[in-house]
Amino acid sequence: MDEMKRINLAADKVMAELGHAEIGVILGSGLGDFAGVLRNAARIPYSEIPSFPRSTVPGHAGMLVCGELHGRRVVMMQGRFHYYEGYSMKDVTLPVRVMQKMGVKTLIVTNACGGVNLDYEPGDLMVISDIFSMTGVNPLMGENLDEFGPRFPDMSCVFDRELRRLAHACAAEQGFSLREGVYCQFPGPCYETPAEIRMVRILGADAVGMSTVPEAIAARHGGMRVLGVSCITNMAAGILDQPLCHEEVTETAGRVKEKFKSLLDGVIAKLD
Ligand code: HPA
Repeated sequence: MDEMKRINLAADKVMAELGHAEIGVILGSGLGDFAGVLRNAARIPYSEIPSFPRSTVPGHAGMLVCGELHGRRVVMMQGRFHYYEGYSMKDVTLPVRVMQKMGVKTLIVTNACGGVNLDYEPGDLMVISDIFSMTGVNPLMGENLDEFGPRFPDMSCVFDRELRRLAHACAAEQGFSLREGVYCQFPGPCYETPAEIRMVRILGADAVGMSTVPEAIAARHGGMRVLGVSCITNMAAGILDQPLCHEEVTETAGRVKEKFKSLLDGVIAKLD
């Protein structure tokens, strides 16, 4: 199906059920229940949105929830789509396009990731300063969607400086500090090898994960302001003398969830 037709089909249904929104939040692993803070919330399962993919990852509820928070209309994705699920980058970024149709101007992207920077520790929260991808694919490949943005969009500042400052200020107000660093996307689903981690450390990565880059690119293409916050759930492969497992990721994400949620709440309260 024509990409624009697909986006419009999904957006029409979502807007009929949820209305409009000005702020979008993509909730990564373990953070889905943050959507519970929304007042007067309406929700729609991904399975009821035409042309939407299905969420196949355990712990991702697969629901779009929209309501009010601090007097703002906020739409939240409980669970995202990943390239490793076999979805195309167009599938992965479809929800961002739909959010833009809903009126979203500011997108907050969250994720769980592995720490590459040796100063980091599991449980740290990191503001994303910049991104790069080892997937070799880009969600903007193919016919350009002129309605959203230009063929060759600028990516020299994907993550809004003011929003990054705001995140640090909110954390400081709440009594903790945030890391700030470069997030590198691998395709997954296997975790990286120690050699891959050494490689991307040399290339400038502070953290690695399997998401976020396509959504951030699509959002910037559409002119949204973007804030990215990562939870370092584990040290990346080869740093510690122990294997990586999904349980460690979910365990750490669970441990810092309340801090993560209160940071997001603080940021949304202060967004201009
Ligand atoms: N690598 C990739 N993705 C991840 C990791 C990791 O170490 N931890 C959580 N998501």
